[in-house]
Amino acid sequence: MIYLDNSATTKPHPEVLKSFQQVSSSFFANPSSIHQLGGETEKLLYTSKQQAATLLNVHEDEIIFTSGGTEGNNIAIKGIALQHQARGKHIITTEIEHPSVYEACKSLESLGFDVTYLPVSQDGVISVSDVEQAIRPDTILISIMHVNNEIGSIQPIEEIGQIAKKHPKLLFHVDYVQGLGKVPLVLADSGIDLCTMSGHKIHGLKGTGILYRRRGIKLFPLFHGGDQEYKIRSGTENLAGAVAFVKALRLIKERERLEISTLQQLHQQLRQELQKIDEILINTPKDSAPHIMNFSIPGLKPEVMIHTLGKQGIFISTKSACSSKDLDESRIIKACGYSQDRSKSALRVSLSYDNTQEEINALVVQLKEALTQLKEVME
Ligand SMILES: Cc1ncc(COP(=O)(O)O)c(C=O)c1O
Repeated sequence: MIYLDNSATTKPHPEVLKSFQQVSSSFFANPSSIHQLGGETEKLLYTSKQQAATLLNVHEDEIIFTSGGTEGNNIAIKGIALQHQARGKHIITTEIEHPSVYEACKSLESLGFDVTYLPVSQDGVISVSDVEQAIRPDTILISIMHVNNEIGSIQPIEEIGQIAKKHPKLLFHVDYVQGLGKVPLVLADSGIDLCTMSGHKIHGLKGTGILYRRRGIKLFPLFHGGDQEYKIRSGTENLAGAVAFVKALRLIKERERLEISTLQQLHQQLRQELQKIDEILINTPKDSAPHIMNFSIPGLKPEVMIHTLGKQGIFISTKSACSSKDLDESRIIKACGYSQDRSKSALRVSLSYDNTQEEINALVVQLKEALTQLKEVME
């Protein structure tokens, strides 16, 4: 099997699974229970928070364990909107956000909030001056993703953070789900107030994640209950999941430090090989994240290629936008200004540190072969 769909999800690392199992069987007590077992569990939860904070270079009380990216994004966006609506109802985001941000913003529009969706260039990047110009006296939140999940473009988060700092009443949220472990992002003193991360994109487990919330930032909770996680995320803590997330975070940070250039080379090799194929148009910009390569084969339904490659044990993906009027069309590729032919035929290869040159070679061989076979369908 050649797995090249790592932006959808990654294979859990064996060490992560081991941690989850050990904690699940030895520390199963409820951290809120006042007996000794509960106390031990609570201590481990605190230790996990400290470890996550150290790895991210933030304070431990800025870490909120969540069930992943969708939850983190919703807690951040709706939490800010509901908490600060008296101050203003304007939100700034982009046209290329993941549905967990895009649809959260759409839902707020239905509640009377006003949302500005910033456009992107053909490279899938917003302009910093557009952000600056969009800010109004009633703007309460800017929510911008770091790495785009379909095309891998990277937004100028550092510069936007500097703008946000000049507007202390406005809060800045970053969806860091795709960038974590592949493209560094500094949180402390960056102007970022909230940042979402997800475990299953970094060889951790589904149902795990972190929301970074800078000290002092108030959020209206989406869940009410037992007041766990600083009253922001009530519900008995998933301690085994939290420990597993921290293990995955430690491991991916190590690989980022040691193997990032290998991943970049693999990405470059893939780009060069794809560029040689006449039928292929590459949608991923040059300065992208090193794990995502998006390309179109105009005239070919992407599912057909996915199934043809799947029969050879090679797994890649497509990303069709659920929110687009035309279900086959990618909202992201369309926002980059490409034709419908191109936005309807996009495929995504997404790498992990486990992929090899041989796997990329095999993909290219099979892609070419599939194209020869499928030529008739295209014509
Ligand atoms: C950029 C981005 N944000 C958020 C999410 C949602 O994360 P999760 O699957 O952990 O809910 C994803 C998942 O694909 C993503 O790519």
